[in-house]
Amino acid sequence: MVSSPIQNVRGFGDVLPSEGPAWAFVEQTFRRELERYGYAEVRLPIVEKTELFSRAIGEVTDIVEKEMYTFIDRNGDSLTLRPEGTAGCVRAALQRGLLHNAQPRLWYSGPMFRHERPQKGRYRQFHQVGAEAFGVPGPDIDAELILLSGRILRALGVRDLRLEINSLGTQAARQRYREALIEHFQAHSSTLDDDAQRRLHSNPLRVLDSKNPAMASVIEAAPDLADYLDEESQTHFQSLCDMLDGAGQSYRVNTRLVRGLDYYGGTVFEWISADLGAQGTVLAGGRYDVLVEMIGGRPTPAIGFAAGLERLVALVEAANSAPSAPAPDAALVISDDSLQSDTLALAERLRDELPWLHLQMPLGGGSMKSQLRRANRSGAAVALIRGAEEAAAETISVKYLRDDLEQETVAIGELPKILSALQANRTGQY
Ligand code: HAM
Repeated sequence: MVSSPIQNVRGFGDVLPSEGPAWAFVEQTFRRELERYGYAEVRLPIVEKTELFSRAIGEVTDIVEKEMYTFIDRNGDSLTLRPEGTAGCVRAALQRGLLHNAQPRLWYSGPMFRHERPQKGRYRQFHQVGAEAFGVPGPDIDAELILLSGRILRALGVRDLRLEINSLGTQAARQRYREALIEHFQAHSSTLDDDAQRRLHSNPLRVLDSKNPAMASVIEAAPDLADYLDEESQTHFQSLCDMLDGAGQSYRVNTRLVRGLDYYGGTVFEWISADLGAQGTVLAGGRYDVLVEMIGGRPTPAIGFAAGLERLVALVEAANSAPSAPAPDAALVISDDSLQSDTLALAERLRDELPWLHLQMPLGGGSMKSQLRRANRSGAAVALIRGAEEAAAETISVKYLRDDLEQETVAIGELPKILSALQANRTGQY
């Protein structure tokens, strides 16, 4: 009896070999640029205590209310697969003493888990690269972080992104705004849907995010956060705008941009692609000056962002901006299996001598014709053919697969020189 094949868990994707170059390009670009700005990598656990997220992200957020993968482990502790990286990064920075008299800049990458409804650009396991900067209260770090994110996105070759920024103000300003919002929405309570009714008192800012068309006009008419900002936040935000202008970075102030996590206050920003439909935000972040204290540390200003890698990979693939995987330089071809053992040894010697060499062995054998076909398909520049004659004479035949050159038979000792010359001549990938 043939049993039915087991499928993946919905929303938990595989990255296939064809997507490998785009993923590597995105990850390497983040690493390179973050390091240039002085960010150091931290590797954080995937599982944290549930309480960390409910405290940091907020009890009445979509993430904590309905999206977390929470389970009781064998000790009876409530644990959660991280839905994002900021909370864990702050926990680690605090617990490991990284915030003592220091202004650490940290970055991390890895899988995050949210039980959302899967669709294009939205998965239950997805990957983020995040960056967090601690200890700097002024708008200069906000501006630098935004410019850094813009630089990364440009380096990835993804176009048509817009930058939206906003200030959520201080907690006191947001409190006043919340009250004004509650008053406004209460006056129109008959048009509010169940979600909005439920959030009206706990998280009225999130009501602004509703996509329900029946509520569009009430949302449109709602008070504007910008009118409630305290002076300090206004000055901070204005300086940020001036710095972005000074650096030639264009942006749009979107006073409705509120973000879905409770720890934010002050500057928030998002990079949005028009090409990804509803799931268009590729990189998002903001200031969270209250979070370190909420998790038990001393008040510490902080700001960060996280980028969604699946979305960026999709854009990189559409723009075809990732360098393709290198084709092999050479593929070995043998006339019969008795040559396998010393051809393997020859391949190892060549790899020792030429550390850059990408060499393919005819593993599994097969006829010379099929080996040559495979060599050709692999994109290798040359086939290195060993028959009984070559083996006896310690020579090898070089068949050029991409250039219009005659096949030649050379002494084995000449091979490194020939392969090096060939590599020097290769422009671009095949
Ligand atoms: P976030 O907006 O929840 O922020 O997520 C950041 C990015 O992760 C999103 O813009 C999106 O690209 C990607 N993302 C989120 N959910 C999914 C999903 N289900 N499938 C695919 N991609 C997704 C945060 O996570 C904050 N920790 C960012 C931050 C860091 N703020 C300050 N520091």
